[in-house]
Amino acid sequence: MNLVRLIYASTISDQFVVDDIGRILKAARVNNKAINVTGLLSFNREFFLQCLEGTRQDVNNIYHKIATDPRHKKPEIIDYQEISHREFDSWNMGYLQNTESLAELIYQHTKSISFDPYKMNGESAKSLLLDIRDEIKQAESQ
Ligand SMILES: Cc1cc2nc3c(=O)[nH]c(=O)nc-3n(C[C@H](O)[C@H](O)[C@H](O)COP(=O)(O)O)c2cc1C
Repeated sequence: MNLVRLIYASTISDQFVVDDIGRILKAARVNNKAINVTGLLSFNREFFLQCLEGTRQDVNNIYHKIATDPRHKKPEIIDYQEISHREFDSWNMGYLQNTESLAELIYQHTKSISFDPYKMNGESAKSLLLDIRDEIKQAESQ
């Protein structure tokens, strides 16, 4: 069984409304649980940065489904790796609610307040997502 992690960036489309975040997370958590896909979704008003972990077949299938969702556009795979273990196995789709914490983490990683995930390489995108993961875990433990 090949375990992989895929990280992609995308841009919200004209069809996206803020309430969609809740709907996306709901569908993701139900669907990903059924196929044992884990991951994290980060959203900063304009862009999405998401990682998906699971078997190669499941991750590829779910990515292709997500990529055609009209609520976002310009999906671009930033990183795709075979992995020996999952880094985001606490959630079928984790999400950081606190936008201030997210802005702070983005600033720490990019030294810019205008976050553009398309400019990140695979390593830096993974590193940001790992810090977001730790922030969510900290928030959950309080
Ligand atoms: C940015 C973004 C991320 C998404 N992530 C997931 C995901 O991880 N898993 C998932 O099943 N659907 C995800 N979706 C939603 C899918 O595109 C699709 O709407 C959903 O899987 C349909 O679920 P259904 O077949 O149960 O109606 C995402 C959509 C967007 C716009």
